[in-house]
Amino acid sequence: MDEILVIKEKLSSIIDPSTTQTLAENDSIKHVGIDENNTVIMIIEVGEKDQNTTKQITRDIAKVVKLDLGYAGVKIEFTKRKLRNKEAKTLLIASGKGGVGKSTVTANLAYALTRLGKRVGIIDADIYGANMPKIFNATNHKLMGDANGKIYPFEKDNIQMVSTEYLVDEKRALMLRGPMLGKVLKLFFEDTLWSEEIDYFLVDLPPGTGDIMMDLKNFTEDAKMVIVTTPQESAAHIAIKAGYAAKDLSQDVIGVIENMSYYEVNNEFHYIFGKDGGKRVADELLVELLATLPITKYDKIIAEETEMPGIIYLNLAKKIIKLL
Ligand SMILES: Nc1ncnc2c1ncn2[C@@H]1O[C@H](COP(=O)(O)OP(=O)(O)OP(=O)(O)O)[C@@H](O)[C@H]1O
Ligand SMILES: [Mg+2]
Repeated sequence: MDEILVIKEKLSSIIDPSTTQTLAENDSIKHVGIDENNTVIMIIEVGEKDQNTTKQITRDIAKVVKLDLGYAGVKIEFTKRKLRNKEAKTLLIASGKGGVGKSTVTANLAYALTRLGKRVGIIDADIYGANMPKIFNATNHKLMGDANGKIYPFEKDNIQMVSTEYLVDEKRALMLRGPMLGKVLKLFFEDTLWSEEIDYFLVDLPPGTGDIMMDLKNFTEDAKMVIVTTPQESAAHIAIKAGYAAKDLSQDVIGVIENMSYYEVNNEFHYIFGKDGGKRVADELLVELLATLPITKYDKIIAEETEMPGIIYLNLAKKIIKLL
């Protein structure tokens, strides 16, 4: 048998005290190599990187590698297990035109899913125009990191959130060049200590479907996308283009959300921005129009559960649960 496989096999029943499971059960052995001095080099993923855990595992591994197998030495690098729930679903919230309400929809959808008992994480991937912190009234928040450069998401009302705004000084726009974008996405998707319980990741995208879409593919291969538009002809026109562009990148578009559809007073509906733009986009892209949302007062960004448009958001959330 291959030398490396023998080492893996012999170490498989060693227990990680921080999870009380074996290295095999946790699929903890991430790398095994043997250097020119006959020293075994390993990367082991652990539940917790505390001294108790690393000392015990080091001792157990050294015993097998040196005494039983006769290698000269062993070097172990420990990494903490990523907490992301592998079953979690990802929904991308996109648009053609800017300012149509992607971020507003993302935040309200997060609340609606939470009200339905789901655990939600928001990734504010609008690299240049992040405004999730503003919606969550948490612009002063500072991201906390652990010793290994992992970051903890911000949390409010049981919703977890990360934003590019937290990576730069306040009031300073983030000036990221192309290649940086992938790094930020890696940080949010792979190096953020999300709750293990998260069922849905909502990704608030910048307007348009450009570079970021390509980068996203590296992190969320099976993500689905919804497109937000207003009823306006100009917005719908660009939303259709964005939809086709997404499809060209083999991005699965599952529906359209029309925002600012009407203004309601005393049961009268006023179609201020025109009518049926969302339907036109949905028809063109051969997907469902998932919701039409009213124009609301500026100080009611997060809708109440029992009022409009909170009720519409609950229905939207139920549809999305089914579609994902
Ligand atoms: N249904 C609505 N009724 C009234 N105002 C709304 C509605 N939806 C969004 N807004 C307001 O419109 C503005 C733009 O919304 P939002 O930031 O959600 O759009 P966006 O698509 O994320 O924009 P950007 O492209 O800049 O990221 C915000 O001030 C928001 O409060
Ligand atoms: Mg936005």
